[in-house]
Amino acid sequence: MKIGENISLKKYNSFGIDVKARYFIELTSNNDIFTFLKSHFLDDKQFLILNGGSNILFTKDFNGVVIKISTQGITIIEENDNWALVKANAGENWNNFVLWCLDRGLGGLENLSLIPGNVGAAPVQNIGAYGVEQKELFQSLEAVEIKSGRIVNFSNEECRFGYRDSIFKHDTKNQYIILSVNYKLSKKPALNTSYGDIQKKLSSIPLADQTIKHVSDAVCEIRNSKLPDPAKIGNAGSFFKNPIVNLEQLMLIKSKYPDIPVYPADNDTFKLAAGWMIDKLKWKGFRYGDAGVYHSQALVLVNHGQASGSDILKLAKMIMKSVKENFGVDLEPEVNIH
Ligand code: EPU
Repeated sequence: MKIGENISLKKYNSFGIDVKARYFIELTSNNDIFTFLKSHFLDDKQFLILNGGSNILFTKDFNGVVIKISTQGITIIEENDNWALVKANAGENWNNFVLWCLDRGLGGLENLSLIPGNVGAAPVQNIGAYGVEQKELFQSLEAVEIKSGRIVNFSNEECRFGYRDSIFKHDTKNQYIILSVNYKLSKKPALNTSYGDIQKKLSSIPLADQTIKHVSDAVCEIRNSKLPDPAKIGNAGSFFKNPIVNLEQLMLIKSKYPDIPVYPADNDTFKLAAGWMIDKLKWKGFRYGDAGVYHSQALVLVNHGQASGSDILKLAKMIMKSVKENFGVDLEPEVNIH
């Protein structure tokens, strides 16, 4: 357990932004986490907990302690004929975890295949894709309170999951390190093929023969065709959240843009496809230096090579202004900006 100084974060964030952390420490076991917290190194310093680094944009050097959580391990902690409760440590790569479950015939997470990032970050922003959010499978998580070193369990309800949202982004922000997450997965899974493109991909397979593996393969194919691979081109997935509007706002927008994709959301509100709006305003493929809008999914901003975090943020602000002027809607970044 070694604390590095002035360490480049380039390889620790999927945008590939080259900023430095004043201090950097990678923790590979829960014991290391507890020992580090007991050392009180954090007491007078700002800090940042980094999991996969796939949902973060650094716009400047971080003048504090970056704590990279790299704890590994996946185990079944309880099971019966119908389901298994699987515990994954926070530093496990999310997709490896999904594959581990698929290999054992455990269903539920297949629609979330290939989402970049680590298990510990999944509940923080309640990751979701192709008709499923992790909150539907989430059972509980174990975290350590940074200030006291106390271990605390959070139930599904206590996490207060919302669209790309949880309590860890608000009330308990920076108060806990997530150690592990438990998911309840099915041994007799019902497939979720509600997302049109998945149905299309599976249409050649008779319904009775369709498996979670087929769904996962379809999701991977769709993702690979629309979303850039962070190993090849820096990005953090969707840069913006899909905005939620009320009926009055929706009617106004629909009168001008009748084909805008709309999804029902909670409490008589509606989710609009931000990617469609940005695309409609002709931003797709646009470049501001090395910061760009991805050519096949306008919701994704990319680093073509040497972009700084500020370049990407400037581009994001241009897009937000343009969407506001044309649709009257405020876009909110999904990515954490530092
Ligand atoms: N669209 C366009 N042009 C674009 C992008 C989208 O016309 O450039 C249209 C699509 O044709 C479709 C609609 O907008 O009619 C929605 O697009 P898509 O299905 O690709 O999904 P999204 O709303 O853009 C969300 C998530 C993604 C997730 C997909 C699939 C958010 C912020 N993003 O994107 O999540 O993979 O749905 O479920 O909710 C992420 O969070 O990083 C992420 C990639």
